[in-house]
Amino acid sequence: KGCKLIGCGSAVPSLKISNDELSKIVDTNDEWISVRTGIRNRRVISGKESLTLLASEAAKKALEMAQVDADDVDLILMCTSTPDDLFGGAPQVQKALGCKKFPLSYDITAACSGFVLGLVSAACHIRGGGFKNVLVIGADALSRIVDWSDRGTCILFGDAAGAVLIQATDTEEDFLLGFDVHSDGDGNRHLNAPLKGNETDSELGSNGSVLDFPPRRSSFSCVQMNGKEVFRFACRCVPQSIENSLANAGIPASSIDWLLLHQANQRILDAVSSRLEIPSEQVISNLANYGNTSAASIPLALDESVRSGKVRPGHTIAAAGFGAGLTWGSAILRW
Ligand code: ACO
Repeated sequence: KGCKLIGCGSAVPSLKISNDELSKIVDTNDEWISVRTGIRNRRVISGKESLTLLASEAAKKALEMAQVDADDVDLILMCTSTPDDLFGGAPQVQKALGCKKFPLSYDITAACSGFVLGLVSAACHIRGGGFKNVLVIGADALSRIVDWSDRGTCILFGDAAGAVLIQATDTEEDFLLGFDVHSDGDGNRHLNAPLKGNETDSELGSNGSVLDFPPRRSSFSCVQMNGKEVFRFACRCVPQSIENSLANAGIPASSIDWLLLHQANQRILDAVSSRLEIPSEQVISNLANYGNTSAASIPLALDESVRSGKVRPGHTIAAAGFGAGLTWGSAILRW
């Protein structure tokens, strides 16, 4: 049994923040941000908006394009590191979509690599688990976990959601031609948002008596990043991963119609495409408008490219995610 990609959708918050607006709250300017990153605007969740709302809007559009009823979805994978509820965002999306048959729904936490891992997981669930209609959603609101006084990180991120519908087929046809996925916990020191003070909360005395109980209420730190190290990691690991995926798919780089990388920084897109010798006209980039939207960036850019007619049926896409964890991975997709 195979599976195919039959729908996509996306949603972004209404509040748009330009580089000039950011320069009113941190010591930065439009020129620095656009030259170093390519980013000009980002969207930020405000008012009554929520990640669940964005994710379910994106999912509804994907279902509409696929012409699949919400009640026929049997699995929802929500790739996010910033859910509305720490216990999981996917069940809330299931509720918002009104799926009455209670499909399995759970979160995948792998930061900016989440969506690629979600695609691979969806294919495995279909091939080995008998699932038929799987929604893969990439949704993040990093605005919730960045320090808005840290100019080294807050200028990079934006909020968004994107979704695809993957359906089982009775043929050998498969949207996932090859993939390659990795993680390196040691690299976590370069990019993290850890729990504060979790090592000392509950000390035991020498006789086993509790010295400090109950534990203090913990909270998470804001995003901390060594930008240069993350930049180097992406330029080193992503081209290699795409080469591995191409080898796995048994096709050359010249067969790729589109390179669709996680939208972190235009300079990373340029470095990876140049290393793979993929012309810039075949590189999808929308980060000027949205910044780095973490797990949402690939499905958001895919949706825009499909709806604008750039990506057409039968096209081959090399997609790659990379980011916190550290995690990275790539997938060769047939639209
Ligand atoms: N505005 C103005 N100046 C700034 C800003 C800013 N927003 N940020 C830093 N600077 C200054 C620094 O203080 C430094 O000044 P100095 O030379 O006087 O010390 C100078 O600009 C250079 O700073 P660097 O940090 O060395 O700049 P760099 O060229 O490395 O660019 C950047 C920084 C854009 C963050 C880059 O390193 C990068 O894009 N890295 C990859 C980040 C990334 O992709 N992260 C993905 C995370 S995805 C996830 O999983 C969450």
